[in-house]
Amino acid sequence: MLGTGMVGRTIADKLLDLGHEVCLGARSQDNSGAQEWADLAGPSARSGSFAQAGAFGEMVFNCTVGSASVEALKSVGQELLSGKILIDVANPLVRVGDATALTVCNTDSLGEQIQQEFPSSLVVKALNTMNCQIMVEPSLVPGTHNVFICGDNVEAKKKVVELLRAFGWPESDIIDLGGIVASRGTEMYLPLWVLLRPTIGTAHYNLRIVS
Ligand SMILES: NC(=O)c1ccc[n+]([C@@H]2O[C@H](COP(=O)([O-])OP(=O)(O)OC[C@H]3O[C@@H](n4cnc5c(N)ncnc54)[C@H](OP(=O)(O)O)[C@@H]3O)[C@@H](O)[C@H]2O)c1
Repeated sequence: MLGTGMVGRTIADKLLDLGHEVCLGARSQDNSGAQEWADLAGPSARSGSFAQAGAFGEMVFNCTVGSASVEALKSVGQELLSGKILIDVANPLVRVGDATALTVCNTDSLGEQIQQEFPSSLVVKALNTMNCQIMVEPSLVPGTHNVFICGDNVEAKKKVVELLRAFGWPESDIIDLGGIVASRGTEMYLPLWVLLRPTIGTAHYNLRIVS
């Protein structure tokens, strides 16, 4: 798990609940928050640097701040990430005045930038369009609602679908948008997500696609 914020910890906790081992990675291997998390989380949890977490994981989650995700992944390095499924949950958001903007959009996306920088990794963009508690407990939002995935490797996406099902997502609610280029669409939804938040009054909402 690359990322010690609320997303990294929430997904890490869920993975532990499901019986996996997790290494929570930070810029520094001495990150006190990550160490405390690992101490409390039990014997299947540990903490380390981004590189140590990247080396540890069979599957790697990118849950770092989107504007620095490529740098964070570079600190792990191509070799340690090669051949691994890299689930990119990050959004390239920045505040510009009172508004939310994207550091990359329209003709490119963070998901694509990561796949381009790490061509031997199997990048799957997933879960980035909702609050992190819903990612791992979709029943927090009543009724049917959707999670998007995209990526260039079909087998990697199948594995991510398996994991999402373990997180509680019915397969029929998982929408595969195609190649990693579709990250543009899911990332560009985020400025709207941010605008909806005060209107709805809770972070527990999500998209339901109807036709
Ligand atoms: N919050 C949500 O519910 C939600 C939902 C969907 C998607 N997302 C996306 O998920 C990602 C994580 O969000 P978050 O709220 O958990 O945490 P965050 O505050 O966006 O990111 C925290 C992580 O980013 C790392 N980081 C910060 N600055 C860095 C830099 N200059 N270079 C390298 N790494 C840096 C931190 O490293 P240290 O550990 O060393 O401090 C930490 O691990 C973001 O991209 C966000 O847009 C969030």
